[in-house]
Amino acid sequence: MQKIGLLLSGWLIAAGSAAAQNAIRYDAAQHVWQIGAGEMSYVLGVNDQKALQTLYWGPKLDGGASFATPKSLPETASFDPRVATTPLEYVGWGGGLPYEPTVKISFPDGNRSLHLEFVDAKITGDELAITVKDALAPVYVQLFYHAYPEGVLARWSRIENRSKGKITVEQAESATWNLPARTTYDLSSLTGRWGAEWQLQTEALHPGAVVLESRRGSTSHQVNPWFAIGSRGETTETAGPVWFGELGWSGSWRITVEQTHADRVRITGGYNPFDFAYPLAPGESLETPRFYAGYTARGNGEASRILHRFQRGQILPQRPTPKVRPVLFNSWEATEFAVNEEGQIALAEKAAKLGVERVVIDDGWFGQRNTDRAGLGDWTVNPHKFPHGLKPMIDRVHALGMDFGIWVEPEMVNPDSDLYRKHPDWAMNFPGRPRTEARNQLVLNLARDDVRQYVFGFLDKLVSENDIAFLKWDYNRNWSEPGWDAVPLDQQKTIYVKYVENLYGILADLRKKHPKLEIESCSGGGGRVDDGILRYTDQVWPSDNTDALDRLVIQDGFTHAYSPNLMMAWVTDVPNFLDRRVIPLDFRFLVAMSGSLGIGGNLNKWTPEEMETATRLTAFYKEVRPTVQLGELHRLMRSGASETSAVEYVSPDGRSAVVFAYLHSQHYGRPFPTVRLDGLDPAATYRLTPLDAKKIPGLTSERNGSQLMGEGIDFALRGDYDATAVRLERLK
Ligand code: GLA
Repeated sequence: MQKIGLLLSGWLIAAGSAAAQNAIRYDAAQHVWQIGAGEMSYVLGVNDQKALQTLYWGPKLDGGASFATPKSLPETASFDPRVATTPLEYVGWGGGLPYEPTVKISFPDGNRSLHLEFVDAKITGDELAITVKDALAPVYVQLFYHAYPEGVLARWSRIENRSKGKITVEQAESATWNLPARTTYDLSSLTGRWGAEWQLQTEALHPGAVVLESRRGSTSHQVNPWFAIGSRGETTETAGPVWFGELGWSGSWRITVEQTHADRVRITGGYNPFDFAYPLAPGESLETPRFYAGYTARGNGEASRILHRFQRGQILPQRPTPKVRPVLFNSWEATEFAVNEEGQIALAEKAAKLGVERVVIDDGWFGQRNTDRAGLGDWTVNPHKFPHGLKPMIDRVHALGMDFGIWVEPEMVNPDSDLYRKHPDWAMNFPGRPRTEARNQLVLNLARDDVRQYVFGFLDKLVSENDIAFLKWDYNRNWSEPGWDAVPLDQQKTIYVKYVENLYGILADLRKKHPKLEIESCSGGGGRVDDGILRYTDQVWPSDNTDALDRLVIQDGFTHAYSPNLMMAWVTDVPNFLDRRVIPLDFRFLVAMSGSLGIGGNLNKWTPEEMETATRLTAFYKEVRPTVQLGELHRLMRSGASETSAVEYVSPDGRSAVVFAYLHSQHYGRPFPTVRLDGLDPAATYRLTPLDAKKIPGLTSERNGSQLMGEGIDFALRGDYDATAVRLERLK
């Protein structure tokens, strides 16, 4: 640990875990820090007002780069004071700030201005911690910067009350990020709704603010806490600058992207300040979520790949080398609540023949859970459905060479349940007001420690008493009455933070006690996917929508922000329950195979031919699985409004690759466009193994990388819903 003082001069290079790449350099003479992370550099310094000012966020700087001591910018008119014109790293509300403050507090006397000044800084490995303090009151904020070799910088803060009175934090953001001044930025975000998550939106930024947020108590299907900003007319999938980021928080959040009067763009994100108030007694502190961001000059595709590598290397529980996800079977769409020992064993036996590695019982196995109207909260095995408990089923699944998983929705309660009858006060509510039910259920107030203990207790018991390898952790509604009357009035709004902290706490405790347990984050599909929950969960369910055509778009959007190994994708039956669309089985498989494959159809109804197709394609999937899940994704032809799409994955060592090509719907007999590959070694020769040679008639068995990327491959796909794949192996 080094304490950096103003007296030091010259560069101090902190030796971090990847020091050469990630050094944090401090230029004491200029009071400037240069942070390197992957192909990005980020520079900040202390200005003449003692405030932290952003100096640079962009391509990696050479070791010789130097910056002058930052100077705050003058007011440009009497309406635009210094605090509005200067790109500040972390700014308290005050001084006439007309934009989002990074922090806003109120003092006990009603004073609400906060003027943060630099105190000191410390570099520890790849982490820089800077302390700032209000000019008058002993309110401190620690600002953290952690550089990751994948090319991501994490920023977050800790607000500390060292005064003698109680203060209230009214807005607590993790960071403000400032972009170089320019008027031609495009903002991409991921929006949606239940059954239609991960829709990529791109819009031109203009003066004013774009607010991406969830006020729902959880991450939400409607907007994901991810953004990417490109340069209009310049940034494409494969080239051009992209500034991107995502917030690691599973509660209400907000990211505000503002273009100021001076055409500067600033991005501020953290806890959603809506309905927010967090009191800090003397000595108390509040930490904000991690806000991760990066930069690449190589387009949206590389921005995604940086995030994928980062999640696998730094976020996921099995970091830095997550195992491949097993092929799972889940009967939800086939049987819904009608689960029982005999039926599930019969399905498991069929699943085993296909090459499935994990069988998951979904909703319906516990309490009086025959419909969605009852039983949530009563986590004991239903004796009519499983008269001998879960053991015979689990034993059979093991004997078939698979492991066993089970669905839970721990944070919820049906009013028609023993739990609710015993503890009606555990459901979140505003006393004396109606409780709004959604899917006939209420949200348990997990901010309460007794609820936390109860939830951990039943999950621990379930996993300890049964050989359970996997939990599908569901969360099927948003908050409506976020009341918490068991704590003093001024504490009640801390529910937004304490609920999520307890959720993370339960997940962490469970994993600690059961280190082999794996968990999926599901929230009626993709309602809770973010880098916060991903620290404790191994995979996610991106959407309840399993229609293969919709999934192509959903998966395209998903992979902009999250790694394909997280992206569970099931093959389900047709007509699809949502769109009523009928799509051939091989197309459904090929779509699901571009993520983590699962099978969710009613195998009792599959014909011998369908079973044969499924077995063959599952075997093919297992061959390409490490490349798909843990490789580098190239979106060669984006799905969306177009008739065609193609994706390629290249293994991290470059030795193998796989390309999937999809014809959604043919028009005018148009041939499938030539697919040019990406990310290969131009000088290497690759052996090509098509899944079905008839669909790539002109394919030679060996081809050079430059030719594959230049000339490309012609697929002979025809009609509606035709798809195929080709494997590549690099020859020495
Ligand atoms: C949610 C999930 C589904 C299924 C049901 C069960 O909708 O997203 O996959 O588990 O709950 O009730």
